[in-house]
Amino acid sequence: MSRKVRRLVVAAPILFVVLATLGAIASYYDNRGGPSAKALPSAPLRELGKAHDITVGTAVDDAALRNEPGYREDLAREFGGLTPENAMKWDALEPQRGSLHWAAADRAVDFAGKHDMTVRGHTLVWHAQLPAWIADGKLGAADLRQVMRDHIATVMGRYKGRVRTWDVVNEVVADDGGLRKSVWSDTLGPVFVAEAFAAARRSDPKARLAINEIGAESLGPKSDTLYRIAKELKARGLLDEVGFQSHFTLDGVPATMRKNLERFAALGLDVAITEADVRVRDPGTPEQLAVQGEVYADLVNTCRAVARCHALTVWGFTDRHSWIPESSPGYGSATLLDRELNPKPAYRDFAAALRRP
Ligand code: XIL
Repeated sequence: MSRKVRRLVVAAPILFVVLATLGAIASYYDNRGGPSAKALPSAPLRELGKAHDITVGTAVDDAALRNEPGYREDLAREFGGLTPENAMKWDALEPQRGSLHWAAADRAVDFAGKHDMTVRGHTLVWHAQLPAWIADGKLGAADLRQVMRDHIATVMGRYKGRVRTWDVVNEVVADDGGLRKSVWSDTLGPVFVAEAFAAARRSDPKARLAINEIGAESLGPKSDTLYRIAKELKARGLLDEVGFQSHFTLDGVPATMRKNLERFAALGLDVAITEADVRVRDPGTPEQLAVQGEVYADLVNTCRAVARCHALTVWGFTDRHSWIPESSPGYGSATLLDRELNPKPAYRDFAAALRRP
């Protein structure tokens, strides 16, 4: 055997092992259920958040959870917190009085359990997405009050120990700083808020109770009212956390957001960013997407700057499943990943803001 041939005989099996290993790795990644797993940088957001005691979470779309392996992969990999986007709303759970539909909510809670994620229950008492039998305003005060208490007890009871924090009431403050008009305030008066929290405390004493609000991120009349309500509930031992939805535009994080969050934290309450997204006018230019990334990074920095901000939830993580195109016609591209689950500048900037020492 010539030396050349001998070398080949020795090298061939080594080459084979190397190639086979590379092939196995490649096919492992290919089988993870979508192009995203390859494209995302190595450290998942949930791990980066941990370093600052921030649970990075997302709203979850039930249809995607059921049907899209790539979506499930990224969800489990990147997020340590989960909020069912619609599955726990009253119209989803009890479209007709007395007939309960748990499948979608159970699916979300089960998924979270399997992937070591905490759940935010969203939401027990809200003016929107109510079934017609409540929304039509035909129930009298005594009946409606009992219906509210029973609902809270039933839903919280089912997920006892599995939902860490509940949005007990959602969006109860009007933009002018008054109490929002709703079937709840119309029928029961302002006291429905404290009654809902008292029922929630009784129903699951170990759950953390939150009040969640839209458009109250900055200092102003709306957040002033929220502050008064939060202070009162906290004094009565009924409130643990205040949620700021944070549906933003390229105008950015309001300049007074940090100050605002800090005054709630000074009451001894945790604060959370609960529904973050940053909508962009269609079609979304590269320049706009770059600015969007800065807004997301600012939001991360705001939460990091407030000692009692331990949760940052985005309202969907892929442009394929986002409420923005429907709720804000002419806008889109509001999330961290594009429709193919590839990271946008927003994802990278979000991660970088968490990575910053
Ligand atoms: C939105 C969902 O994302 C949509 O799918 C649904 O059609 C309407 O509600 N504030 C909230 C969320 O508290 O529950 C809303 O979610 C967005 C605004």
